[in-house]
Amino acid sequence: MSRLSSAPGRVNLLGEHVDHQGGTVLPVAIHLRTTVRFTPGEAWDITSEGHEPLGPWERYVRAVIEELGEAPEPPSPGRLEITSTVPEGAGLASSAALEVAVAGALSELPSLELARLCRRAENRRVGVPCGLMDQVAAACAIARHALVLDCSTETFFHLPLPEMEMLLFDTGVRRGLGDTPYAERVKEAATPGTPAARHVAEERARVDRAIECLDKGDAKGLGGLMVECHASLRDLYRCSFEEADDLVKRLAVTPGILGARLVGAGWGGSVLALVERGTRLQGGTVIVSDDGLTVRE
Ligand code: GLA
Repeated sequence: MSRLSSAPGRVNLLGEHVDHQGGTVLPVAIHLRTTVRFTPGEAWDITSEGHEPLGPWERYVRAVIEELGEAPEPPSPGRLEITSTVPEGAGLASSAALEVAVAGALSELPSLELARLCRRAENRRVGVPCGLMDQVAAACAIARHALVLDCSTETFFHLPLPEMEMLLFDTGVRRGLGDTPYAERVKEAATPGTPAARHVAEERARVDRAIECLDKGDAKGLGGLMVECHASLRDLYRCSFEEADDLVKRLAVTPGILGARLVGAGWGGSVLALVERGTRLQGGTVIVSDDGLTVRE
């Protein structure tokens, strides 16, 4: 008998590059998902629709299988059929959605444990020193809510989003985390007095203010914090790039936009904009609107 498991990509309202330093983050699940069907068999047979065999995605799948292999009840082999609508390298945590969907198809672990296992797999077996945000978002986030995750205590709760829409703009610039200065910056962020460490301290304060905004349903306040966050990602954390900066600049003077910023790790990927309800804009994909997680082309 086969088993199905599915996990979403995410955006992050505030708290970029603070998870690896024990900060609090505010990811939101999006409508794009990765689905895995597992059918027990004699040997591992891994296929992914739309991906080249032996593409980088396969490393994440192998990493999860190996990590589960060390669990008290290691999975027995079989066929893994993967389908995904989460674009790779777009800053939407496609690898975490893949890891969590695979782990979910192969184990009965509770969701937070599943997320921890997937992060461990990525840290130890893919060699990316990522924090816990993406995996917990993929395993535990719920529609139209920010997942408030404290990465030092590894505890979370959900806060409803204020009345607004979220628009995603793809810059078209792609990157794989392993090919970026992600690891280098994680080290810098842990070194007091560096620009990256300053970004982390200020971003943590912004997250506290963002939680107050969520409590009050203040979408405008959130938008302002997003703009501050982008400037910090550009100037202090140094993970932005021309296409994202230009897009954010353009959006800043567009009526109806409450705030916009680069989302995810950076060095490529997407810009997230908070938008007043009903604003008509060219381009962009609505990811959270009043009727839930819908898409407007
Ligand atoms: C990537 C990592 C996360 C986090 C973000 C930046 O998505 O996987 O752990 O560090 O970058 O906030």
